[in-house]
Amino acid sequence: MQGYFNHMAAAGSGHENWSSRSAFILAAVGSAVGLGNLVRFPAEAGTNGGGAFVLFYIFCVVLIGLPVLLSEILIGRHGQAAAPSSFRKMAQESGGSKAWGMVASLGVFSAFLILSFYCVLGGWVLYYIGLFAADVLATGPTTGAFAGQSFEQVDSYFGAMVSDGLATGLLDVVFLGITVFFVARGVTGGIEKVAVYLMPAFFFLLVGITIYGMFGGALGQTVDYLFTFEPSKLTGEVMLAAVGQAFFSLSLGVAGMVTYGAYVGRDVNLASTSGIIAGADTAVALIAGLCIFPIVFVAGLEPSGGLGLMFQTLPHAFSDIPFGTLIGLAFFIMVAFAALTSSVSLMEAPTSWAMERLGLTRVSAAVSVTVAAGVLGVLSALSTGALSSFHPLGFIPMFEGLGILDALDTFTGKLTMPIGALLTAVFIGWVASRRLLDDENGLSGGLHHFWLFLVRWFCPLVLTLILFGGVFPKTTAQIFAAFN
Ligand code: PHE
Repeated sequence: MQGYFNHMAAAGSGHENWSSRSAFILAAVGSAVGLGNLVRFPAEAGTNGGGAFVLFYIFCVVLIGLPVLLSEILIGRHGQAAAPSSFRKMAQESGGSKAWGMVASLGVFSAFLILSFYCVLGGWVLYYIGLFAADVLATGPTTGAFAGQSFEQVDSYFGAMVSDGLATGLLDVVFLGITVFFVARGVTGGIEKVAVYLMPAFFFLLVGITIYGMFGGALGQTVDYLFTFEPSKLTGEVMLAAVGQAFFSLSLGVAGMVTYGAYVGRDVNLASTSGIIAGADTAVALIAGLCIFPIVFVAGLEPSGGLGLMFQTLPHAFSDIPFGTLIGLAFFIMVAFAALTSSVSLMEAPTSWAMERLGLTRVSAAVSVTVAAGVLGVLSALSTGALSSFHPLGFIPMFEGLGILDALDTFTGKLTMPIGALLTAVFIGWVASRRLLDDENGLSGGLHHFWLFLVRWFCPLVLTLILFGGVFPKTTAQIFAAFN
């Protein structure tokens, strides 16, 4: 115990804080806004009944995501240390067991696993930047993308990429390299800088491309598609998909927001700041829908689900519009910016843990995390090509037929993230001392009690349902069928 506190003091001596509240907001929004908003949200909305999914998603962000987001930032801010120590500190001050630190250790581990495959996807985005850049150079900026090439040819780029382990492995390493470049420079010198420059550039590109797409004429169809609420489409599956997406998009359950919270000053009001972060993340997801679907509809295409929407449907759609090649290039650069500010936060959680726990300097901690994530990442990159028939956890039903990348995605998305978020809500709702929460959360009166109610009862209940639904999809489907 004594050793543990000494250790924290040693780590604390090098403790940095964000240089301002807005720097923190940009970094946290940078963490939240990523492939989840640009790839997953539109694809999930597309396959899950459009408006029913979108409206339920907003409900989930407000009533489930936001209370947990506030909890995570609060634990970090109170602890001012790496995530597991922050949990332990609050647990001990509240008379609870220091085993609660394990919740954050699990989170740090999930952040590491997600980092390993997130950077593979980041590498894919770099590959497409290369494809569009080469196309702009070849045909000039005014034509549609891939002018003169057949539909099949444009389609084949994706298959060619994912089966090319050398290219995707290398680009994964490049994306990790860019990430570690910023993480190694520290909170104010790197993590904050990348957010402060890239987030405004990201918003500018997003709004610009969205406005351009609106002139195509499919705005009405898009609005119908995204916002028409048909109650019959709100099935149990759609609800589970929406909650899962809300948690992923707000970067919850992986200790990332606890880690960022540790650099927040005492004077910051956490409730209003969490509200801004969740609001900005949700706005970006909705604008991403308004950006992508008009372009897809104008080209007369059906929006596909999964990764196909971004890497196959959109390139076809860009080939149909004037300046499509240039807009496509700008689009993928924008996606890369968003992915980078997320991968930085995924790397920071294990890095700050390694600094504190293993006593490493920031540079060695970040580099060690990078090397480990690189090894796992290259295996993930190969899992869509040379290693595609290797199914590491295939003997467990929920991982049947999944390659390394998909298995990591499923393991974190369906197991460790919901478990982390569930235990965080239970910890705040049932273990943390009321006085301490009252001092920290920036809420008063009815809102304070409403938040406590949500983290005590509502969030744990819903998160248990998601966990059950993810682990036992067949049983869940049968239960839903019985109700329909
Ligand atoms: N929220 C990020 C996105 O939407 C992903 C992420 C998850 C980042 C967890 C950090 C932690 O892409």
